[in-house]
Amino acid sequence: MQIREIHIDEALMIRKEVMYPNKAVKFAKIENDDEGKHYGLFNNNQLISVVSIFIKNNELQFRKFATLKPYQNKGLGTKLLEFVFQFAIEHHCTAIWCNARKNAIGLYKRFGMLEIGEPYLQNDIEYIQMKKEL
Ligand SMILES: CC(C)(COP(=O)(O)OP(=O)(O)OC[C@H]1O[C@@H](n2cnc3c(N)ncnc32)[C@H](O)[C@@H]1OP(=O)(O)O)[C@@H](O)C(=O)NCCC(=O)NCCS
Repeated sequence: MQIREIHIDEALMIRKEVMYPNKAVKFAKIENDDEGKHYGLFNNNQLISVVSIFIKNNELQFRKFATLKPYQNKGLGTKLLEFVFQFAIEHHCTAIWCNARKNAIGLYKRFGMLEIGEPYLQNDIEYIQMKKEL
């Protein structure tokens, strides 16, 4: 198992397959992807899980966190998220936050993230902001 920085095109491939399987790849893009850093978890040299990191005002936001379906629920996403939290600490960030899909809330709570505000719908998917002060 290896975690390393990846090219945005590698992140897009996994994002699309996991999060937007029936849509064009452009739906997997974020407008400011070029301002972020993209990381991937590899198993036997195969890219399995991706996440993108954006730091603004000393706060780290992670976005488009996705693990290939056959590899979900095996603890690999947790490993990548542990890397993200370590990254935030090493970069002296004051908080870590995300717009969480409902299905990921339990995972983020285990990292000490708390729900903020009200849930909202975007493209028929329910989200809520979650945050942990560091
Ligand atoms: C969210 C996501 C990235 C998590 O990745 P993952 O690799 O499945 O993460 P993990 O395996 O570490 O954890 C997922 C669940 O499996 C459980 N798990 C971890 N190791 C496990 C194991 N060895 N055996 C069984 N279950 C395990 C975790 O406890 C967690 O449970 P929970 O959701 O009830 O809290 C993945 O589910 C995904 O790609 N979902 C679709 C896209 C998405 O919703 N992204 C999040 C956007 S905010």
